Amino acid sequence: MDLSGKSILVTGGAGFIGSHLVDRLIDENPGNLAVVDNLWLGRLANLAQARERYPGLRFYQEDVARERAMAAIFRREETEIVFDLATIPLPASLKRPKWSARQIYDMALNMCELGRRGYFGRLIHCSSSEVYGTAAYAPMDEMHPLLARTPYAAAKAAADLLVQSYQHTFDLEATIVRPFNNYGPRQNDQNYAGIIPIVVRRVLAGKPPVIFGNGEQTRDYSFVTDVADGIVQLARSEATAGQTLNLASGQEITVNDLVHGIAAAMNYDGPIEYAPERPGDVRRHLADVTRARALIGYQPRTELRSGLQQTVDWYLNTA
Ligand SMILES: NC(=O)c1ccc[n+]([C@@H]2O[C@H](COP(=O)([O-])OP(=O)(O)OC[C@H]3O[C@@H](n4cnc5c(N)ncnc54)[C@H](O)[C@@H]3O)[C@@H](O)[C@H]2O)c1
Repeated sequence: MDLSGKSILVTGGAGFIGSHLVDRLIDENPGNLAVVDNLWLGRLANLAQARERYPGLRFYQEDVARERAMAAIFRREETEIVFDLATIPLPASLKRPKWSARQIYDMALNMCELGRRGYFGRLIHCSSSEVYGTAAYAPMDEMHPLLARTPYAAAKAAADLLVQSYQHTFDLEATIVRPFNNYGPRQNDQNYAGIIPIVVRRVLAGKPPVIFGNGEQTRDYSFVTDVADGIVQLARSEATAGQTLNLASGQEITVNDLVHGIAAAMNYDGPIEYAPERPGDVRRHLADVTRARALIGYQPRTELRSGLQQTVDWYLNTA
């Protein structure tokens, strides 16, 4: 489907992946582009580049879980396609599990309901590789069992099941995308941050990086602009309707190697500390991206070393 001229809305668009997606969507020449984000973690600064390139970008500071407010926004924007990226991140679910799980579930349910009632035509719902838990086999394809280990992962899995149930029961036109770990500029480095921004900030503050557990747990990291590009490609494709797709590099790296890679990008050769494993941490993540390759020719472009350097440089410039 050609996105040119379409009215598009991105939830969580002031966040990390969402703001890169907004940047990438502008290349598609949409007729109308709107962002809904309650700025709980997102920042308007993440949309500065998009606003320059697309002055008509509309921003709503609103809660995606509020049904009437979202209905009014969709009506006003005459939204055709929703990219649903708003979330409460995993680390928050370790501190506030009930609230986090409820938020994630309620936001997804709201999108399903409003889609069912015709407030927009197509839903691209952003899930997470966390729904799979630790690899029961690797590489992990989309049929891997949902073995969620944290309240975040369980709520994301519940959200996926909701979307699938609305697809089957009400013909909601939806695609579920499951990114594995993302990194890059604009990743939140404040409350509830992920490992890369935390390590960069610690080194900048003259403190040693800390690895939770023995560091031999693995992840499949993608540079955020590659993932944003993949999400746009899958929205353009008719073949992805009703499908669930992994988006990842298909390459595995240990947390130890990742932290050494960040240290190298920062010319840091000091000590690295170890702390007890984080509760619910998955041991192994490696994606099978056969489906994304087959359906949209997905081919991530950024090598980890170059992506890490771009990421570190960005944090250095915003320090
Ligand atoms: N970052 C990763 O490595 C990663 C990996 C896999 C999947 N994902 C998924 O990608 C999507 C985007 O993640 P991200 O890393 O950009 O997260 P992020 O925290 O940077 O962005 C999420 C945004 O949602 C907003 N938000 C939270 N609650 C809201 C609410 N009730 N109403 C409106 N806005 C709300 C936040 O303010 C934030 O801007 C999420 O669905 C996440 O689960 C992320």
